[in-house]
Amino acid sequence: MTYQIFETTDRYIGELFPERDEALIATERSVEESRLEHNMSISPIQGRFLQVMARTCQAKKILEMGTFVGYSTIWMARALPPDGQLITLEADPIHAGIARKNFMDASLDKIIQLRVGKALELLPKIAMEGVAPFDMIFIDADKPTYPEYFQWALRLSRPGTLIMVDNVIRHVMGFTSNTSDDMTEGVKKFNQLLSESPAVVATIIQNVGIKEHDGMAIAVVK
Ligand code: SAH
Ligand code: DHB
Ligand code: MG
Repeated sequence: MTYQIFETTDRYIGELFPERDEALIATERSVEESRLEHNMSISPIQGRFLQVMARTCQAKKILEMGTFVGYSTIWMARALPPDGQLITLEADPIHAGIARKNFMDASLDKIIQLRVGKALELLPKIAMEGVAPFDMIFIDADKPTYPEYFQWALRLSRPGTLIMVDNVIRHVMGFTSNTSDDMTEGVKKFNQLLSESPAVVATIIQNVGIKEHDGMAIAVVK
């Protein structure tokens, strides 16, 4: 469900804020060049939104679950100071390979640490390393596991940490055919958990634009 007016408006906003640099454009292109089944990256305007949010919380350390080719990663990493750190987790070695190249081309391979594996297997290791708490956490990996990712995000947070979660509407509102029962169930459970969690103040922002009608959850840890 994409209405023309949402696309036109997305394009208008994109032209107002055009500073998508070579690296971001190359990363957008890397999806097509690699003949990946479909583009799972957030839109440029959503990328800018994540960047603004990362600046708002003066993030120095960011954690991302679900890298794909690294598009959201690059937008967030660009908000970090030179000594900042972004750890991103990706299970698919093909996606990870493309992302790694994109990070090098963007000269962000020192700031971005890409770890390949299932996020649920990597998260306990991260917890043991002492790198937490993160200032910002972006959850965007497999949807059925969202409830567990939220629990991990809380464990790796401090008061004030910003937790953002992609795709929290389309699977529950039936706006997409690209869904399954376990995705719907996982996201529904996550949204309920989020709404009832005493650990955060949270909301969901409805997203329209060039992507399908969707929503992004935003939570601040109390
Ligand atoms: N954040 C990216 C898009 C991520 S798409 C962007 O907006 O630019 C979701 C990604 O999660 C896919 O690349 C998929 O391979 C990955 N993924 C799926 N299951 C996973 C898991 N268990 N652990 C880590 N990554 C996973
Ligand atoms: C798709 C989009 C996403 O934002 C995501 O995280 C995973 C998949 C998709 O379009 O299929
Ligand atoms: Mg997503």
